[in-house]
Amino acid sequence: MNLAENVCNIVLFGGLGDLAQRKLFPALYQLDCADLLSSDTVIYGIARDTSLKQAIDLTEQNLRNFISESEFSENKLKVFLEKIHFLSFDFNDHTAYSQLSSELDRDIEAERLFYFSTPASIYGAICKGLDYGKCLNASSRVVLEKPIGHSLESSLDINQEVAKYFDESQIYRIDHYLGKETVQNLIALRFANNLFGSQWNQNFISYIEITIAEKVGIEGRWGYFDKYGQLRDMLQNHLLQLLCLVAMDPPSELSSDAIRNEKVKVLKALRPITEEMLDSHLVHGQYVDGYIDGKPVPGYLEEKGANTQSSTETFIALKAEVENWRWAGVPFYLRTGKRMPEKLTQITVHFRQQPHYIFDPEQRALAENALMIKVQPDEGISLQVLSKEQGLNSGMKLRKAPLHLSFSDAFSMDRVPDAYERLLLEAIKANQNLFVRSDEIEHAWKWCDQIISHLENRVTPMPYPAGCWGPETIYKMIEADNRRWHEQS
Ligand code: BG6
Repeated sequence: MNLAENVCNIVLFGGLGDLAQRKLFPALYQLDCADLLSSDTVIYGIARDTSLKQAIDLTEQNLRNFISESEFSENKLKVFLEKIHFLSFDFNDHTAYSQLSSELDRDIEAERLFYFSTPASIYGAICKGLDYGKCLNASSRVVLEKPIGHSLESSLDINQEVAKYFDESQIYRIDHYLGKETVQNLIALRFANNLFGSQWNQNFISYIEITIAEKVGIEGRWGYFDKYGQLRDMLQNHLLQLLCLVAMDPPSELSSDAIRNEKVKVLKALRPITEEMLDSHLVHGQYVDGYIDGKPVPGYLEEKGANTQSSTETFIALKAEVENWRWAGVPFYLRTGKRMPEKLTQITVHFRQQPHYIFDPEQRALAENALMIKVQPDEGISLQVLSKEQGLNSGMKLRKAPLHLSFSDAFSMDRVPDAYERLLLEAIKANQNLFVRSDEIEHAWKWCDQIISHLENRVTPMPYPAGCWGPETIYKMIEADNRRWHEQS
């Protein structure tokens, strides 16, 4: 698509916030360098209580910090900075929005993309201001950052507020995992390869693991994180979105609604986790001090700004079940945590063994194929296959060996675009495929809310030392089903 003719002005609310400075401006810089922004595009950063000079200086400084040396060019930065224009006003003051509308009216032909990189509690106030200030027209679209709410009820309130001003077709709810290359590749892997497509069900698959592990701790975000915890911050959105893409039925076409309809069916088919099931289906933990890369790190309750009584979880593992024909009897073990030994997002599909086994009985446990889809880092796919050990002396001894496809080697990619580059580009092109529909958010909250309510009446999270894969009980949970986590193999 030639975007040079498609002028889309972008308005970033929270323009000096961490997300805008760390991710959004650098992503827009990359799009500009790739000629994917029209030369007439204006990027309005909206921030409160700042002078315009301070705002642009800080943005320039951060662009210099966050763009890697190999991708940085003084000339390109200069051209990009000319596109940025800051405005300063209080987002809650609806009378202040007229200054934004006068700016936007300079080019009445240009499309308008509003990006709310602010707490969701003020999305309604911003919409009201945009409407009052006459900033909205038929081309307007709005991008909403996660988390949308804290529970089903609060997410419904927020979605309803925004829906007063924007039609669903104009709303782009971000889950940045959907912008990651390998996450999109799941669709190609599953629906373009009969080899996998034909095996993707309970007849051939024994169980599936989805892990999102982070090495980092709370990184100065204690106040925010403690109100949410890992379940709301990572499971309700990123992990469940990955689960949907792995478990959904083939969509009839690649349109956003066809894909979202299938994802919603998965969320609706999730078996509720009742209070009686908690012990066998769920482990939650909180990290204590330990070592990351050999260096000592503090526990969650010792981080800067911590409330030492907090019982917020920094780790959660659970066994999810999708109650439909395709997945009957196939557990999905999901886990996500902070301060894990490595940064890793991986989907591991464990295939069933052959119905009749003829090799050395001692090697029986080996005889299982596993498909590893590495979302990050080192994006790629690896299929564990069994072969005969080479050599005259080895008889029919089996050995596991990987068939490996590294995306960066195979496609000579010099860089993997950041998820926000892809998502901003799709929002500019008005393509909703990679964004989350309101009913997806609602069903995800519905399933999570009942787990949260059981946990609230429950014991505090299990401690686990920073630098390990979570509380020891995660092994008991999976071994009770005669299965193992990937790292145990
Ligand atoms: C964010 C969470 O959505 O995702 C953070 O709020 C988390 O807590 C981050 O660290 C992880 O994203 P990524 O892309 O680094 O895996």
